[in-house]
Amino acid sequence: MKPSRDRRRDDRPARKGGQDGRPPPEARPERPQKPQKAHADGPRAEPSRAAEPAPARRPLSRREGALPAERLPLILEVAPNDDYALLDSGAGQKLEQYGPYRIVRPEGQAIWQPALGEREWAKADAIFTGDTDEEGMGRWRFPHAPLGETWPMRHDGIDYLGRFTSFRHVGVFPEQASHWDHMAGLIEAARRPVKVLNLFGYTGLASLVAARAGAEVTHVDASKKAIGWARENQEAARLADKPIRWICEDAMKFAEREERRGSRYDIVLFDPPAFGRGPKGEVWQLFDDLPALADLCRAILTPKPLAVVLTAYSIRASFFAIHGLMRDTFAGMGGRVESGELVIREKSAGRALSTSLFSRWVAK
Ligand SMILES: C[S@@+](CC[C@H](N)C(=O)[O-])C[C@H]1O[C@@H](n2cnc3c(N)ncnc32)[C@H](O)[C@@H]1O
Repeated sequence: MKPSRDRRRDDRPARKGGQDGRPPPEARPERPQKPQKAHADGPRAEPSRAAEPAPARRPLSRREGALPAERLPLILEVAPNDDYALLDSGAGQKLEQYGPYRIVRPEGQAIWQPALGEREWAKADAIFTGDTDEEGMGRWRFPHAPLGETWPMRHDGIDYLGRFTSFRHVGVFPEQASHWDHMAGLIEAARRPVKVLNLFGYTGLASLVAARAGAEVTHVDASKKAIGWARENQEAARLADKPIRWICEDAMKFAEREERRGSRYDIVLFDPPAFGRGPKGEVWQLFDDLPALADLCRAILTPKPLAVVLTAYSIRASFFAIHGLMRDTFAGMGGRVESGELVIREKSAGRALSTSLFSRWVAK
């Protein structure tokens, strides 16, 4: 399959010579060519020393058994709340409230006009410019007063750090809160020990929510920097005593190893980028690798699993595509596959901003 992307949650800055932020075609890797590492700020890659040899592809065949029930489309919405709000959007930008700060970032989907006046937008504390090659905070402008790299944030009583990063990310994807609430409900309702695997875990919000709900959590990300930020978030959240394993590793490799070792999980979350790199240069291409990873996620479930949650963004595909994949993957398992979009509801005029596609298998 050919990799393709759309602009939802697409945070890659446009690069010289590349269209829509992608490297030019001649630089686009097949299986490991030029070794590069995953970058904590986003899917952009940075040079590293050695590439791993291309691993053998997992042989895939269609699973036998009745397909799970289905529910679609399911639109999961994050409404403005005290921790986070999409205040307004329009003219290719969005104005968001992240805890104490108002932040303006580009938003390709906001093809309508802003509902709030210029005075409201001018109150922004930080604006992503992205107009330099600088790393980190160099790509942000602070119109009123210089701000530090991090600031205190909160999700549903969990403290963590917001963060200005190079790729217009701010250390959290608020739309994921719909999945976090759902997962916490499953963990609490299970009334037994629950093991959660969070692949492509980034700054660890899902891991913290799962741990607070009582689960034993394994968090995997290819970026050392992101793992460091996730650990800082665990401290900030005062959840240091909770059982979370932080693992810097390629998601596919880790899942393969867990399958061989017989390690099993009740809930698996995976939120892969369209393109990424493992710490040893392993290449992740969503359209090539997602079917094998979904199959592995099934293979490493406990006998009484609760859910497997897939989110996908920045790809040119419909949720019907990942719905079809997940339903086939979970054939014979019973349960239900629910698929749709994660959206954020705007405070000013109530418009919905789509951020990503999702498909989740739930046992009940
Ligand atoms: C968009 S983030 C996921 C967001 C996260 N689920 C959340 O809600 O905060 C994608 C993450 O995938 C990681 N990544 C990219 N390629 C990877 C790979 N091959 N294996 C593991 N993690 C990878 C990146 O470092 C990044 O942290």
